[in-house]
Amino acid sequence: MKALVLAGGKGTRLRPLTHTSAKQLVPVANKPVLFYGLEAIRDAGITDVGIIVGDTGREVREAVGDGSAFGLDVTYIPQEAPLGLAHCVLVAREFLAGDPFVMYLGDNFLVGGIRGLVDAFRAEECDARILLTRVAEPQFYGVAELGPDGEIVALEEKPEHPRSDLAIVGVYTFSPAIHEAVRAIRPSARGELEITDAIKWLIDTGHRVRSHFVTGYWRDTGRLQDMLECNRIVLEAVEPDVAGTVDGLSEVSGRVVIAPGAVVEGSVIRGPAVIGADTKIIGSYVGPYTSIGEGCVIEDAEVDYSIVLADSAIRGVRGMTHSLIGRNAEVTKATGVPNAYQLMIGDHSKVQVRA
Ligand code: G1P
Repeated sequence: MKALVLAGGKGTRLRPLTHTSAKQLVPVANKPVLFYGLEAIRDAGITDVGIIVGDTGREVREAVGDGSAFGLDVTYIPQEAPLGLAHCVLVAREFLAGDPFVMYLGDNFLVGGIRGLVDAFRAEECDARILLTRVAEPQFYGVAELGPDGEIVALEEKPEHPRSDLAIVGVYTFSPAIHEAVRAIRPSARGELEITDAIKWLIDTGHRVRSHFVTGYWRDTGRLQDMLECNRIVLEAVEPDVAGTVDGLSEVSGRVVIAPGAVVEGSVIRGPAVIGADTKIIGSYVGPYTSIGEGCVIEDAEVDYSIVLADSAIRGVRGMTHSLIGRNAEVTKATGVPNAYQLMIGDHSKVQVRA
């Protein structure tokens, strides 16, 4: 069995970070979202992985390399434009050959792995086994309707009036029959070849399609609040490990990881939290559910429930919360008069200030 990992797309909802970086590489507890997926694929016993890449391909290649760091053998498959999930299957035709495969959307975050799904697919011969979970806002997802015996009666992509609260999770298993399906369908209203339509085609043409329920936590990390929530979930289970230096004036409590080379002086760190390598925390408070990347400086500041990417600085700022700060960014205190905000922010940024 092979795996097809989708790491293209534009990531418009995570702008401005995604102007310069792949959405699949935004870190959760200081590790890119994509890496959790690659580890889940390996843990399900699959080593032959194709990764679909788009505009941010160079960065994805740099981060994942040949896959050997994960125990995987990775092949990169360029997609010239984000024309849909089913289009990814079309462009991966040669790589997939005649093998069954698991398709994994690189921005999906799943706790508990995919072994259950993959084992169920292997155990009972079928042409697709899809993963479902109950969600509060099904209109933002592919939605499945099940019959009395759990069989799939209908599938619809982002319906205005969902007929159930069962969302299609972005991990699917397919037999080679899917290749005929992706060739048979037409682009949707949003101009994409939808994998939901291809699965619907399988059902309508009498193929065997089964479903499987997610047992653990799942999020599509497309939006800020989802990233922060995934970060919280992972940090809640993080193994405490203080390898960096903490001075006698500091207080570190709860689940806290302080990476080698990090320095904590005169600060309070209340876990769960992770502090990246070579980061300096000086005279500051880092509160629960915070991930600070490597090479950052947090000085005379208070931060909680946030993700800060590598090489950024936060100085003299209190009450920073629910925030996602990109690489090489600076948040500092404005001095002098007038008592005003001074901003230089990227395109499509979002800033909320107490006015
Ligand atoms: C895609 C699928 C949708 C699925 C979702 C899961 O949506 O089209 O059916 O529920 O992934 O993350 P997209 O992220 O492309 O909007």
